[in-house]
Formats: sequence, structure tokens, C-alpha cells
Amino acid sequence: MSLKFIRPHVVFNLIDQAEDCFNEMRLVVPNRHTYTGGSPTLLEKALIYALMKYANPKRIFEFGTYVGATTRLFHDNSQAQIYTIDIGNLTQEILDKEVNHADIELIKKTQAAGSNHIKGLDRITKILCDSTQYDYSQLPTFDFIWIDGGHDLFVAKPDTEHAYQILDKTNPNACVAWHDYNSDLYPELTQYINEIANDRDIFYIEGTMLCFALPNQAVDLPSSLY
Ligand SMILES: C[S@@+](CC[C@H](N)C(=O)[O-])C[C@H]1O[C@@H](n2cnc3c(N)ncnc32)[C@H](O)[C@@H]1O
Repeated sequence: MSLKFIRPHVVFNLIDQAEDCFNEMRLVVPNRHTYTGGSPTLLEKALIYALMKYANPKRIFEFGTYVGATTRLFHDNSQAQIYTIDIGNLTQEILDKEVNHADIELIKKTQAAGSNHIKGLDRITKILCDSTQYDYSQLPTFDFIWIDGGHDLFVAKPDTEHAYQILDKTNPNACVAWHDYNSDLYPELTQYINEIANDRDIFYIEGTMLCFALPNQAVDLPSSLY
């Protein structure tokens, strides 16, 4: 078990089922009115799209709604039921926990923007709660889980553990994916993913801050050396 480095095309090839298969993705192109920082890049969104398609999701769970950019990506490119959790407001409790500065800024922006990308969309269940405090036992299982909430170890670790708990074990393509691996802002997250890769296969997609696992299958994806 290890952290395996792969190139983006390896992920796109996962959904390249036939020679004449053209995968079309619906995408909101960011502009100065809609982009507030903190969301994945366009390449990352295409990769998230591919991983999500590969998981063929009936249900998707997202840690970290923020403006709803990835929530909308999931909505516009699947028929899945989408659950998304965000703390929403900056509370004294968060300030007392010494949450890292970058996450404090994102929580402030979340409060101001109010998930504006997903207003009026159906199939989305918004949960307003600290993800470390939520009762996950009340939820169904999920085929694709996107982890991009709090990046301190005291949030990323329980989020990851909960993700594995609610992952649908019957779907061989079910996927858990993380954002912000290798980000200068979040060294604790990178260290944590490096650690958990000691006892499971995790793939890091080069040129991005994306990692993912396919926990229900032993998959041998070509590493970036080849
Ligand atoms: C990087 S943003 C998510 C980006 C989003 N997926 C997008 O593409 O628009 C991280 C979000 O996690 C939320 N967050 C931080 N700590 C949290 C916690 N403990 N529980 C739930 N949400 C949290 C922040 O409020 C912020 O909206």
C-alpha cells in the first residue's frame, strides 16, 4: 500500500469505455463575479468529473459546500442525490480551536456568499453543521465522496474516517477524493494523507492538488514513470 503518483490522462482513461466515447461535461466557467478563490481549478474539476462518472453515483456526499462550485458540478453532471455539509458561520468555538488562517478566511467567505452557485437547484441536501459533530449514522451510503472541508488534522481526519464509514461497499467503483494535497497552506493534510497511504492505496494526480482512493477494488493504475 502506498501513495501512487499518476498523470491526469490515467484518470480520464477510466471513463474512456469505447473508441467513439466523448464525455461531455457541464461546467460553470469562473469569472470575476463568481470566483472567490478556494474552489478547484478547471483541470481539477475535469478530473473530479471523471472520478464522479467512474463511480456512477446514485448518491454523492461533499465535505465543504462553500460557494457550491463543486456541488453544482456534481449536480449538473449526474442524476445523483447530493448531500453537502458546511459549518457556514464563523463561531467562537471555531476561533477557540485555532483553526488555520486560510480556513477562517474561507468560512468568512462562505458566510458572505451563502452557497450562491446552487441556489434553486434540486437534488441537493444542504447540511449546516460542523462536520466533526454531525451524526453520520442517520445517512444512507454514498458512491462518491468529496473531502474539501476543514483542512486541519482535527477536521480532515474525522471527515476521512466518516467518508470511509458512509461509502457504499457494494459499488466497486466507489471513490473517496480529497482536495488540497501538497498545498502550502495545509501541510497537516498532506502529512495525514501520506500517513494513511501506508495501509491503503491512494493516488495523487500530478499537476493538481487531488488525491483519491478506490477502496472497494485493488486497482493497478499506471504510475507517472510510464
Ligand atoms: C475549500 S472550501 C470548499 C470549496 C467547495 N467545495 C467549492 O468548490 O466551492 C472549504 C469549506 O469547508 C468549510 N468548513 C471548514 N471547516 C469545516 C467544518 N469543521 N465543518 C464543516 N465545514 C467546514 C468552510 O466553511 C468552507 O466553506
